[in-house]
Amino acid sequence: MNERICPLNKGQIFVFYNHFILCGKGSRKKIKKRSKEGKKMTKNKIAALLLTGLLGMFAVGCGTEETSENATSQADTTQDMPTIGIIQLVEHPSLNTIYEGIIASLAEEGFVDGQTVTIDYQNAQNDPTNQQTICQKFVENDYDLIVAIATPAAQSAAGRTKDIPIVFSAVTDPIEAGLVADLNNPGGNVTGTSDAVSASAIMDLAREIQPDLKTIGALYNTGETNSMSVIRDLKAYAEENGIEVIEATVTNSSEVQQAVTSLMGRVDAVFSPIDNTVATAMPLVAKTAIDSGTPVYVGADSMVQDGGLATCGVNYTMLGDETGKIAARILNGENPADIPVVTMNDFAVYLNEDTAEALGIEIPQTVMDRATILTSQE
Ligand code: TRP
Repeated sequence: MNERICPLNKGQIFVFYNHFILCGKGSRKKIKKRSKEGKKMTKNKIAALLLTGLLGMFAVGCGTEETSENATSQADTTQDMPTIGIIQLVEHPSLNTIYEGIIASLAEEGFVDGQTVTIDYQNAQNDPTNQQTICQKFVENDYDLIVAIATPAAQSAAGRTKDIPIVFSAVTDPIEAGLVADLNNPGGNVTGTSDAVSASAIMDLAREIQPDLKTIGALYNTGETNSMSVIRDLKAYAEENGIEVIEATVTNSSEVQQAVTSLMGRVDAVFSPIDNTVATAMPLVAKTAIDSGTPVYVGADSMVQDGGLATCGVNYTMLGDETGKIAARILNGENPADIPVVTMNDFAVYLNEDTAEALGIEIPQTVMDRATILTSQE
């Protein structure tokens, strides 16, 4: 700063600061350029801001009359950052992993909570009323973006707004859930990531481990669309392969224990899809099944970690990462209508060694060779 041109005083510093603050403002339609593009632009932007600041100083001269207005703007800084409402359906290891992945990837893209973005994180504890209340609040607050983890949370959010962009995470079947009509062309305010798995691949794995498998128990919540579509695939597979399906359905987590107990002694194995209700009660399911010597095949690695025997599933850290990237693209100005839903193509076999041992099952070498081995968490 050249003192001969214009010496700085306190008032000028406020004016200069005010230009920074004003440039940070943005409505939903205008949130842009904070991520990769933003990083590229940063130098130019700073130069422009410096210039604007200097011009501001000259325009105002050496007066201090704007001090109080500038003080207000200063206090408003956090309100000027884009706001994201994140709703997580319920507390279970997989959804927690996804949430952490989203936060990490948003930060990598330049959106750090409390610094460049404000994140309002809410957990609905698997309660439909909570889901409605949380989404209602997000909409009333006119947040810039909603991120919804798991199908029921995403359905709740999508039912509340056709305006605020929604990024869903880990929705097994986004079409069946009514969130998008076309995975490649979402067309509305909703897009995101899917953790679609193949019931056939999981059943092929089950039969590799248990070649004599003839009856399978299907344990799931009839209210979760994410489970319904996988169960449909399971039934088609069973029919083609001469396997009998015995259903044990629930509507909430307090019914899970009884449902799994009802299957014991009647089936060679149990199958549970990527069901949030069963996942919250998974340690109990695993214990009941192990006690009666019945393997449980599941839809997600966390359910293996919680005592299920095996799955062929997706990597949820990667899925959270992809979700965060989509969220960042929207914060950078892209339209959700044009962002295709991301599905995970990398399937891996996960096997719980402790469970195999407790069941006294010899796992074929062909499975061991390709499995990621997990052990039960205490
Ligand atoms: N796919 C589930 C849904 O659509 C959410 C989910 C992600 C999940 N990971 C999981 C459910 C693990 C059970 C276990 O709602």
